[in-house]
Amino acid sequence: MKQADISRPGTVIAGLIHTIANPQRKILMSNVQHSHINSFDKNWKQRKESFYTHWSKGKILNQIQLAFRNHWSLLCELMKNPDFNQGKRVLEVGCGRGSLSCYFSNAGYDCMLLDISEGAIDIAQEIFKTNSLKATFKVGDVNTLPFEKKSFDVVFSIGLLEHLEDIEAPIKEQIRVLDDGGLFFGYIVPEYSDNIQKDYEWVNDILKGYAEDTAAEKEEVYRSDAGSEYYLPILKRYKLKDIQASGVYPLPMISHSKKFPFTLMPKKSEKALVKQLEKMLEENGRKTGKHSWLCDEGYGQAFIIWGYK
Ligand SMILES: C[S@@+](CC[C@H](N)C(=O)[O-])C[C@H]1O[C@@H](n2cnc3c(N)ncnc32)[C@H](O)[C@@H]1O
Repeated sequence: MKQADISRPGTVIAGLIHTIANPQRKILMSNVQHSHINSFDKNWKQRKESFYTHWSKGKILNQIQLAFRNHWSLLCELMKNPDFNQGKRVLEVGCGRGSLSCYFSNAGYDCMLLDISEGAIDIAQEIFKTNSLKATFKVGDVNTLPFEKKSFDVVFSIGLLEHLEDIEAPIKEQIRVLDDGGLFFGYIVPEYSDNIQKDYEWVNDILKGYAEDTAAEKEEVYRSDAGSEYYLPILKRYKLKDIQASGVYPLPMISHSKKFPFTLMPKKSEKALVKQLEKMLEENGRKTGKHSWLCDEGYGQAFIIWGYK
């Protein structure tokens, strides 16, 4: 099982080596902020996958909805911790389409969604409107959050921190706007080469023969390969309590698309897949005795970090 061994200098060196080997990446890194925003914005505006709704109120229809249902279930567990202040003000940073915020909003939380991409905020607003969910939306940068200190009881991100080359300011900012007893939660998807996914590539290779890969090409964005040991000292430095990390999402992503491993298959196939994945999760929970979404870091598709202020 992979356990990334990355310290800050290591990450910079790894980035530098990668840059030399990959001129495309050099362009991305030379003017990070501008191209970073543009790439995300283009991805949100141009790809049909942007309009998938990952939130589901009732029955789960596909593997992505299954993933978000489990993110939500796990967060509900973390909010049972006696260190949590039980408040209802929630901020999602780097919200994208805001799938997890849909769960919070539906459960009666007071939601604020922030993203640096206007395209993302447009899509999130559309999804909330279509589903009659309430929230406030803001275009903004996680490095300089436009909120007073202690404004929220939960501050979280899903798939944001691994895209940031400097993570100190974004984490510091999120903790600044968190109230005492608030929950900080980060879901991070690093560059993995030997997690659970590698055991299922053969399935995806077979599927590739059955359907044309119509997923739009994605703009390249920076993705770190750092593990939780890179992030946790920052949570400690800014004085969070009960700081923890864990691997999550101990399931493969099954798809005919090489460009976007989450590209959905036909409805019947997704339905059959969800059934199978639910069985795998049940088995995982039985084996570990923990929430079934948790696993060893390096084995699942992602890892999480969390703590209380
Ligand atoms: C991989 S997506 C997250 C998707 C999202 N969690 C969802 O459920 O749809 C990462 C998001 O972070 C946003 N982002 C990147 N840098 C940011 C920054 N500095 N401040 C705020 N948002 C940022 C991007 O625009 C993008 O929407």
